[in-house]
Amino acid sequence: MTYIELDYQPKESDLLVWFYAEPPEGKDMRYVADRIAEESSIGTWTDLKTLLPDIWEKLSARVYEIDEDRKYVKVAYPLHLFEAENMPAILASVAGNVFGMKSVENLRVLDIRFPRGLIEKYPGPRYGVEGVREITGVYDRPFLGTIIKPKIGLPAKMHAEVAYQAWAGGLDIVKDDENLASQDFNRFEERLYLTLEKKDLAEEETGEKKIYLINITAPYREMIRRAELVQDAGNEFVMIDVFIVGFSSLQSYREEGFRMAIHAHRAMHAAITRNPRHGITMLTLAKVYRLLGVDNLHIGTAVGKMEGSAEEISSIREEIQLENVPGNSMRFAQDWYGIKSVLAVASGGLHPGHVPAVVDILGKDIVIQAGGGVHGHPDGTMKGATAMRQALEAKMLGISLEEYAKDHEELKKALEKFTR
Ligand code: 3PG
Ligand code: 3PG
Ligand code: MG
Repeated sequence: MTYIELDYQPKESDLLVWFYAEPPEGKDMRYVADRIAEESSIGTWTDLKTLLPDIWEKLSARVYEIDEDRKYVKVAYPLHLFEAENMPAILASVAGNVFGMKSVENLRVLDIRFPRGLIEKYPGPRYGVEGVREITGVYDRPFLGTIIKPKIGLPAKMHAEVAYQAWAGGLDIVKDDENLASQDFNRFEERLYLTLEKKDLAEEETGEKKIYLINITAPYREMIRRAELVQDAGNEFVMIDVFIVGFSSLQSYREEGFRMAIHAHRAMHAAITRNPRHGITMLTLAKVYRLLGVDNLHIGTAVGKMEGSAEEISSIREEIQLENVPGNSMRFAQDWYGIKSVLAVASGGLHPGHVPAVVDILGKDIVIQAGGGVHGHPDGTMKGATAMRQALEAKMLGISLEEYAKDHEELKKALEKFTR
């Protein structure tokens, strides 16, 4: 009994998974491919009296491609094997037990191709790129944002004041950090109301729409309670550490029908995405998050403090923004059947000097965020925010930062500090 069927032509309705798999000592790729398909569909380590021919016929996975050199295994799963609207359970099949089997040395999910019948069960982003542009009235350039720093420590009142300075200095977005919750020196409610007051003030003074991404990450019921407060307060966004709260929480949260857009921070993802020989790629996670319905997603910077090559990050950007993603040597072709596109967030170790490169790599439909690169400016947050805005202005005008810095003092000082 084998799951390998190399002349099988995957059907449009199949869910496809592209694995990188290393066989253990003394075993070959066929062996490992069989074990993966078995455990991730209907089988186990031995043959079963209970596995009726009908079940085998209708529900078994099929290995339709094995690349011995690159150690690739492609598996097709009939959609019927899954409860299509249950993302956690789908992942329990195709990315569950398989990672821990002794019959595979290292295993990585490189990509998943979702079929139309599955995609149609998910809402996708409520707003997406177009919706966020409508909320803000910013259409012709990337968004600029900051993360309040120190990441933890400011009392709510100072948090709100620093947010004001960032907005007044020229940024569109202010974001809580991923580990800011409702600590006793900075309570969630207090921070929400004080920061929104400052947001109103900054909007009035600048005539620009400003955005506050407040972190509601918490145990599920508390997260919902906080989301209700945010909705009642009239804010347009919440932030969630999507990997940390889990697939079930995120899927449920989106189904609650809150009006706010979702900014997805991906903290902890690297525990499974970083090792190139094991785990799940960020590309795969990004597809899951697009389906589950986040509006903004951190995807990496290519040039800042976090790992990830420019090629990989552009590929993730395409995956969350295109309607029809072309396949290549690392990913499946994927049609999104009208699921909205997600704003890509570049964040981590950025400063004004990085702005042109980030725009070159990722294009216009992005948020460029800098924490240290704003609050570390020699003249403080407001000037740091202005320096970021100047860097983007220069890029949009096609002028080099060095040239623009000649008569833009804030940018000049930022470059002196951060690029030397
Ligand atoms: C599990 O979920 O723990 C596995 O399916 C164990 O199954 P096995 O005993 O057939 O390996
Ligand atoms: C984030 O949450 O994205 C980071 O806190 C970025 O902070 P940094 O710009 O100071 O690296
Ligand atoms: Mg952070």
